[in-house]
Amino acid sequence: MMLFGNQLVPDEEVRISPLDRGYYFGDGVYEVFRIYDGRLFEVEKHMARFNRSMAEVRIGLPYPLEELENLLNRLTEAAGIPEGLTYVQITRGAAPRSHPFPAAEEPVVTGWCSPFSRPLKDLENGISAIVREDIRWHRCDIKSLNLLPNVLLKQEALDGGAGEVIFNRGGVITEASASNVMIVKDGVVKTHPADHHILRGVTRSLVLRLAEGLGIAVREEAFRAEELASADEVFITSTGSEVMPVVLVDGRPVGDGKPGPVTRRLQQAFEAAIPAGSR
Ligand code: PDD
Repeated sequence: MMLFGNQLVPDEEVRISPLDRGYYFGDGVYEVFRIYDGRLFEVEKHMARFNRSMAEVRIGLPYPLEELENLLNRLTEAAGIPEGLTYVQITRGAAPRSHPFPAAEEPVVTGWCSPFSRPLKDLENGISAIVREDIRWHRCDIKSLNLLPNVLLKQEALDGGAGEVIFNRGGVITEASASNVMIVKDGVVKTHPADHHILRGVTRSLVLRLAEGLGIAVREEAFRAEELASADEVFITSTGSEVMPVVLVDGRPVGDGKPGPVTRRLQQAFEAAIPAGSR
């Protein structure tokens, strides 16, 4: 079952034109939700971000946002998978290829669910990351379909045996290819401010709230590549990765090369925040 427009239809009934601007311009935005215990997690936050992404690229949802939320809940229920991801995207629709917005826009909405299990082994042991120049545009706050830099650099990480690529923009660490980045130094958590150089991660916000609740000091402050290299702890956050320890950066161990105490406390708090059926 897939979402197509405002209907849930069998996969084979989805028909997309090769003239869809999402296809040849990447002219669209998307959102990824986590399914825990058969239900969407942090749904209002993802809906709000999707709404903001659409507004920033001036694509209008052809029906109310509440209806989309309802459709995504129904899609997720119909999928019947306890642990997974729900994806939704909207494009500016089909039109003869020409850069200006078409006179009559018919945005195309599609969505689907896929099984996805908690990466328990990596959450326990941590992953390694490489650092590369952030070659993306300057509106990374928009969850746009244009992910070629993310895709290419993520593949470079995987080809070298690492799990994620952390971006360095002019000496400052912004985020990673599909996650936000946090460091811990002397007990203080630091992460890039939520400006146009990072995506305002739903997991990032949740983790910052959890940190405050635990009395862990948090600074939303730009930090440099050298601070990443000398951090006591490094972790990434995302819908799929949750609170994921990074234990090796560019081949060098972070701290003692094991997930650190602050990361562990945040992982425990995160786990307590997800539905009991998924823990
Ligand atoms: N990625 N930064 C980037 C560039 C991302 O693509 C993502 C999410 C995040 C974390 O955001 P959140 O915590 O809301 O998932 C940060 C999604 C999961 C993806 O593209 O698959």
